[in-house]
Amino acid sequence: MTDETLGLLLSRIKDVPDYPKPGVMFKDITPLLADPQAFAALTGVLTELCGRYGATKIVGLEARGFILAAPVAVQAGVGFVPVRKAGKLPGATLRQAYELEYGSAEIEVHAEDLAPGDRVMVIDDVLATGGTAEASLELIRRAGAEVAGVAVLMELGFLAGRGRLERALAGAPLDAL
Ligand code: PRP
Repeated sequence: MTDETLGLLLSRIKDVPDYPKPGVMFKDITPLLADPQAFAALTGVLTELCGRYGATKIVGLEARGFILAAPVAVQAGVGFVPVRKAGKLPGATLRQAYELEYGSAEIEVHAEDLAPGDRVMVIDDVLATGGTAEASLELIRRAGAEVAGVAVLMELGFLAGRGRLERALAGAPLDAL
């Protein structure tokens, strides 16, 4: 990615203080999505990464991950697979629980969407604690598929998600733009 592209993307991410609660700085990507040049630049960089890592399927993580992953899948010419919060998918699913800072959560994928032989790239907007991405990697492996890598727009380094993901990545790349 060029410095010019990075500058464009950074200029379109809005810091929103005290959202959704006091003390939290929310990173709002809606200005980036509303700018066709910035959105195209972002999906272009992500598509290039998917090609570099030989991805044959793209997983997007609900909900903001869907917005980025779906156009990348189309551009890369591979299938898109939604990993959803539990209870939203109608078919037979694999479900994975994970720990949050307070409590726990569960995500699901349609079992038939991932299979041995697939090389799967996970795309999301933000890596924070890494819990969601880690659980998605577990789902991919439990389906018998291979992890091609994880790519996110932003990594909140102070939450140490990269370290949490290390075991689940098992050497696969993690790119934070
Ligand atoms: C956010 C973000 C990531 C996840 C990162 O999603 O889009 O998916 O949290 O957090 P983690 O690394 O600590 O797991 P959120 O659950 O807020 O849902 P949304 O995309 O539906 O707003």
